[in-house]
Amino acid sequence: MGSKWEPWNGFHRKNNHILVKLFASVLLVGISFRLFSSDSSGLVPVSWSTEAVERAAVPVADVGDGEIRKDSSSTDNTGNVDASIPETTPDIEEVSQEEKCDLFNGEWIPNPSGPAYTNESCKFIEAPQNCMTNGRPDRGYLYWRWKPYGCDIPLFNAKRFLDVVRNKSWALIGDSILRNHVQSLICLLSKAEEPVEVYHDADYKSRRWHFPSHNFTLSLIWAPFLIRADIFENDDGESKSELELHLDMLDTKWTNQYNSFDYIVISGGQWFLKTAIYWEKNTVIGCHYCTGKNLTEVGLEYPYRKALHLLFSFITSSIHKPLVIYRTWTPDHFENGEWFNGGTCNRTDPYKKGEFNGKDVDHLMRRIEIEEFEKATALDGSENSSRLKLLDTYHLSLLRPDGHSGPYRTYRPFDSGKNATVQNDCLHWCLPGPVDTWNDLIMQLLLNE
Ligand SMILES: *[C@@H]1O[C@H](CO)[C@@H](O)[C@H](O)[C@H]1NC(C)=O
Ligand SMILES: *[C@@H]1O[C@H](CO)[C@@H](O)[C@H](O)[C@H]1NC(C)=O
Ligand SMILES: *[C@@H]1O[C@H](CO)[C@@H](O)[C@H](O)[C@H]1NC(C)=O
Ligand SMILES: *[C@@H]1O[C@H](CO)[C@@H](O)[C@H](O)[C@H]1NC(C)=O
Ligand SMILES: *[C@@H]1O[C@H](CO)[C@@H](O)[C@H](O)[C@H]1NC(C)=O
Ligand SMILES: *[C@@H]1O[C@H](CO)[C@@H](O)[C@H](O)[C@H]1NC(C)=O
Ligand SMILES: *[C@@H]1O[C@H](CO)[C@@H](O)[C@H](O)[C@H]1NC(C)=O
Repeated sequence: MGSKWEPWNGFHRKNNHILVKLFASVLLVGISFRLFSSDSSGLVPVSWSTEAVERAAVPVADVGDGEIRKDSSSTDNTGNVDASIPETTPDIEEVSQEEKCDLFNGEWIPNPSGPAYTNESCKFIEAPQNCMTNGRPDRGYLYWRWKPYGCDIPLFNAKRFLDVVRNKSWALIGDSILRNHVQSLICLLSKAEEPVEVYHDADYKSRRWHFPSHNFTLSLIWAPFLIRADIFENDDGESKSELELHLDMLDTKWTNQYNSFDYIVISGGQWFLKTAIYWEKNTVIGCHYCTGKNLTEVGLEYPYRKALHLLFSFITSSIHKPLVIYRTWTPDHFENGEWFNGGTCNRTDPYKKGEFNGKDVDHLMRRIEIEEFEKATALDGSENSSRLKLLDTYHLSLLRPDGHSGPYRTYRPFDSGKNATVQNDCLHWCLPGPVDTWNDLIMQLLLNE
């Protein structure tokens, strides 16, 4: 088939193996990657007390029933890492109470014990993320763990997580990267209890699972822009006309349900790179990459800032106060081209710090996110304090060019007889893979509450 796959969508459940996406704006969107000036923002330290580590520190063997994790109890504390680095399960006595640690500033270090689950032990990995099953030959990308400078994070503990969220409801709201994330979370949790799917929409983009013995509900809500978007696509994801985005309205798909959630992970961004017509007060105010429309080009910054401002205002002014975890921009790692013209991501090791600093669009989008997040939390008086936290996965994700599905978003792309000019996915991530770390970090945010 000559059609092009587009990375933002991830996949359609209906055509699980081959993604068929063709947007009129294909080229224009790609060009948008190059048009924004560099403005690198620094790390934003998040204070985090090591108390959370203590409360989370349990013997590794207690964690679920996964074979790999069980085996790891004997290999976790190998001398493979620098002796000055605390071990996977930190020694409580040695960690100072006073110590603050930025969870998001650190490095990837070798992890001989490997991932918490595999394509065999977790049945919730969707085909485009299932790099093992799809025949990715190298395994090195599975043997790393995130090590913040100055502290250590324990691995995700499914049993403990489920005990904390008993009787609670959790939502992940956003785009296909969130879907990537939720699969990882379910794989990790299913080691302690297997969930039951209790809802899905027609194309499996919004879904809900229940963990009966913990009475825990996990929802995935498809809202790629977070704000109101009129998307004119047919069933194959082909665009019939430009997207229309309302910069002064949130997507009611998630706001309608907001009061029913105790915990929320929310993130967006990638879809703002698309060609779109923007509305405010029911009037067209401009466009991003429209040709032949005689509309003002508004760029990326204005609409994304507006959207985030609206999002954070809703959260901080809402009477209902769930724990809201805002996840930052996810960088892609296309090299030698973009997603539509042969870009690849065939590296097999993480970058060292400083080896890759992201693309201009990454700097722009993350800077907007950090600034809007900080404005929201600064305004947040203690009386009505929102439980709004940052999950700043940007830098740790930037260092993992080796973690993407690449050609292995499709089943055995290089099998004999098949043409090896396959389109790569250098935006979504293999599972198991680096996204599992996002959940290790969420566990810390949860326990630190
Ligand atoms: C898991 O991946 C391996 C190759 O890495 C493959 O041999 C095996 O069949 C896969 N298992 C499943 C259940 O897909
Ligand atoms: C969960 O809900 C059940 C039924 O309402 C209640 O008996 C139980 O104490 C609750 N557990 C927690 C941890 O809130
Ligand atoms: C499950 O949790 C909900 C709150 O989320 C509570 O209303 C309900 O009673 C719980 N059910 C059981 C069987 O514990
Ligand atoms: C484009 O829009 C401007 C302002 O709305 C208008 O003055 C101009 O005539 C338009 N040009 C064309 C070619 O329609
Ligand atoms: C990675 O891809 C580039 C082309 O995009 C190619 O030149 C290079 O040989 C590839 N490396 C490996 C290890 O396959
Ligand atoms: C706290 O929230 C309530 C309800 O939203 C609001 O009426 C009140 O003005 C808020 N107080 C502050 C200090 O923001
Ligand atoms: C694969 O595609 C290339 C160009 O896209 C073509 O030249 C080549 O003949 C194709 N090979 C097979 C086996 O179909």
